[in-house]
Amino acid sequence: MICKSNNQSSTLISLTLFVVAIVVAVSYATYSLSLPASPWSWRRGPLSSSSKFSIPSFNHHQSPPPPVIINPKTALYSMFKCDSDSCKKQNGKMNKEVSKLIEELKDETLLRRNKKRDKNLEKVEAELAAARVLMRNAGRSPSSSSRIYDPDYIPVGDIYRNPYLFHRSYLLMEKLFKVYIYEEGEPPLFHKGPTFDIYSMEGVFLNLIEKDPNFRVYDPNRAHVYFLPFSVTMILNYLFDPIIRDKAVLERVIGDYVHLVSSRYPYWNQSLGSNHFMLTCHDWGPRASWSVHSLYFTSIRLLCNANTSEFFNPRKDAPIPQINLHRDENVMILGGLPASNRTTLAFFAGSEFHGKIRPILFKYWKDKDGDIQVYDRVPNNVSYNDMMKTSRFCLCASGYEVASPRLVEAIYAECVPVLISQNYVLPFSDVLNWDAFSVRVSVSEIPNMKRILLGISDHEYTRLQENVKRVQRHFLVNNPAKRYDIYHMILHSLWLRRLNLNIYG
Ligand SMILES: *[C@@H]1O[C@H](CO)[C@@H](O)[C@H](O)[C@H]1NC(C)=O
Ligand SMILES: *[C@@H]1O[C@H](CO)[C@@H](O)[C@H](O)[C@H]1NC(C)=O
Ligand SMILES: *[C@@H]1O[C@H](CO)[C@@H](O)[C@H](O)[C@H]1NC(C)=O
Ligand SMILES: *[C@@H]1O[C@H](CO)[C@@H](O)[C@H](O)[C@H]1NC(C)=O
Repeated sequence: MICKSNNQSSTLISLTLFVVAIVVAVSYATYSLSLPASPWSWRRGPLSSSSKFSIPSFNHHQSPPPPVIINPKTALYSMFKCDSDSCKKQNGKMNKEVSKLIEELKDETLLRRNKKRDKNLEKVEAELAAARVLMRNAGRSPSSSSRIYDPDYIPVGDIYRNPYLFHRSYLLMEKLFKVYIYEEGEPPLFHKGPTFDIYSMEGVFLNLIEKDPNFRVYDPNRAHVYFLPFSVTMILNYLFDPIIRDKAVLERVIGDYVHLVSSRYPYWNQSLGSNHFMLTCHDWGPRASWSVHSLYFTSIRLLCNANTSEFFNPRKDAPIPQINLHRDENVMILGGLPASNRTTLAFFAGSEFHGKIRPILFKYWKDKDGDIQVYDRVPNNVSYNDMMKTSRFCLCASGYEVASPRLVEAIYAECVPVLISQNYVLPFSDVLNWDAFSVRVSVSEIPNMKRILLGISDHEYTRLQENVKRVQRHFLVNNPAKRYDIYHMILHSLWLRRLNLNIYG
């Protein structure tokens, strides 16, 4: 059965890869242009043996990394063409528009190639190049170096794609990674976001990064990435009129902001925005970035709504989990019953008419079978939290957007998530191996769901559930943040995207 879900996940991944191919990407001149889903791609590139660093001694204040060999003939950006079948099948009108944009960005790239290189950026790029070399070496010979010391946590086990490489990358991030936050903009639209309800990650991340003593840097010349600190949810809350319904207000605010920082500072123009990032959990996140084409196609977007059909590009964009944080702080308490005490096979509660997948789920499973409890609204005598804690499987079906807060709720409740979604890139899937702690059921298999879930043996279930517990730490929200928690995992996703980008490639 698990075999089956693996097949599905590889279909998902290959789909993702095809979609990526139509999106403008930044130059990976030293690496191959085939597109693995995971950003660990540099392992496959040509190796440079110039690095003498080992992790414990790597400190860029004391020992500047060796300069990378820069090929002046390579363009700042190289663009992908839409030549895969699945790309061609995409909506024709959208494709035309995208092709036009790609041409425009290409022209800009050519202009940029003749510009003088920026000394600070060259230094930053050299640091990243040295980090890539370290990671590549770590990827090649994980057994040669013994365990890395870490007082808090050592990633092990099959919940990771490569625990050793993740650990190395994480520690390197802690040593090197620097984020600059543009100070322009006033609350409530900027530097502030919702900290409750389903869009809470916007406010949580903003608050944590603004007071981060380790990663935040106040000298923009030392930064690896630049944060555009707007909140899509706040802009809509304050400026979107539900009667006039002028969605363009969002695009105007964001467009103006990018205009402001790109005329006041050199950083945006230098990189065409590719080392800039935004974060939003709102359904309209992808749309919000559309107004500034390079924000959409070259900047790093951290999105809950990681829908590859809306040009989410996992090579440069990163998915973030959606969490429904409650105002009364009475967040779902961690933990639930052990496997053998879980009496309900599967549970779901949520609105039926919300996207395309849920009506199918309801058609086959609402009031059909006591083992699979599907509710539009939980009855008074049933507690949502208790159901999550006493069910073996918690169904996480996409609604209007691909992400669902149920995914994190299931992980908190130690209930094995069943993912029912399409074109969704899972959070932290660059380092986490979701098949070790979740089950995927494709939309076409919804009618067979009971058979699929019953086909998972007790032994296999126990493994999945134990792994759910192990992965919890990466989804916990802490204030102040703790190492390896959700905030740091988001930063790590960002770090990988930045490593994947070579501005002077
Ligand atoms: C960046 O480019 C824009 C448009 O080409 C230009 O208006 C702006 O002045 C440039 N910014 C800087 C800091 O030179
Ligand atoms: C689980 O079930 C066993 C046997 O029915 C019972 O003894 C135990 O107390 C239960 N554990 C919990 C946490 O409910
Ligand atoms: C809740 O009430 C309904 C209707 O009275 C009943 O059928 C159901 O078994 C109850 N559920 C629980 C968990 O008590
Ligand atoms: C993903 O994006 C496509 C294209 O915009 C849209 O048709 C689809 O409904 C989206 N999926 C979800 C679950 O939102």
